[in-house]
Amino acid sequence: MIDFPEIKRLTDEEFKRFAALIYQESGIFLKDTKITLLSNRLRKRLHALKLDTFSQYYDYIYALTDRTQEIEALIDVVSTNETYFFRNERQFEALTKHCFEDIAGKKKDGKALRIWSAGCSTGEEPYTLAICVLENARFFPNWKIEIIATDIAPSVLEFARRGVYTGRRIEKVPPEILEKYFTPDGENREQYRINDEARKLVTFQYLNLFKNPYPEKLDVVFCRNVMIYFDKEHQKKLVAGFYRVLMQGGYLFIGHSETLHSISDDFTYEKILDSPVYVPRKR
Ligand SMILES: C[S@@+](CC[C@H](N)C(=O)[O-])C[C@H]1O[C@@H](n2cnc3c(N)ncnc32)[C@H](O)[C@@H]1O
Repeated sequence: MIDFPEIKRLTDEEFKRFAALIYQESGIFLKDTKITLLSNRLRKRLHALKLDTFSQYYDYIYALTDRTQEIEALIDVVSTNETYFFRNERQFEALTKHCFEDIAGKKKDGKALRIWSAGCSTGEEPYTLAICVLENARFFPNWKIEIIATDIAPSVLEFARRGVYTGRRIEKVPPEILEKYFTPDGENREQYRINDEARKLVTFQYLNLFKNPYPEKLDVVFCRNVMIYFDKEHQKKLVAGFYRVLMQGGYLFIGHSETLHSISDDFTYEKILDSPVYVPRKR
């Protein structure tokens, strides 16, 4: 079902103008085949602003003295936010059964663990990371733990901060973990609220990967299923940025359908417990 069907599809010309604006502001690259998808997503914005046509919306954006907020709202409706707890669980196994011990063993100076979930969407990935840390707390006695979770879409960050999940989002959470780290919530107790113990390890913040500075001195970066939305030029910028902020001996996790092949030579590829993991080369 299409929301607001009274608003017609983008024309080719309108599509080009919006695709260029979205690309310039977020690095998200929309092929011509995405015209229906983009029309459907933009309709929500037109409806909210009581506008009838996409051209009116485009002119509205350019007439604003300060476009920041509307650009945020535009990217918010355009971004794809699919995610769930323990997505691609083998990667979390690699992290907990290899990387954690390795990081803990190598760190002689600061007793701090810093993990970045870049493109965290509605929070399932960073909260899964928090649960992994808590389940493996023996490696990090008295360490300062920080999980920095960032995204470009304000609405997903708001959802993430609320920390309440149902259905497919929590389907892969093992029952004992659900019991331990969530509290049933809602009228029929069909929703699950993430507990404070995991929540307090995670900080959510707005961050556009191409316009804002990155967090630094990181031990682990998770940037999964984000690169696929960018063209090669932006993928290269992104991965060069990760190389700058990852500590020697740190780890980069990307999505299963993503690769660093022909994107970066700064990392070596390792297969840990069947999962592709990238390690920064010596500087
Ligand atoms: C498909 S979700 C991935 C969620 C999670 N990492 C996972 O793998 O389950 C992609 C996320 O990337 C975010 N994103 C897209 N472009 C971005 C940009 N330029 N800066 C920051 N986040 C961006 C989107 O808002 C979206 O929430």
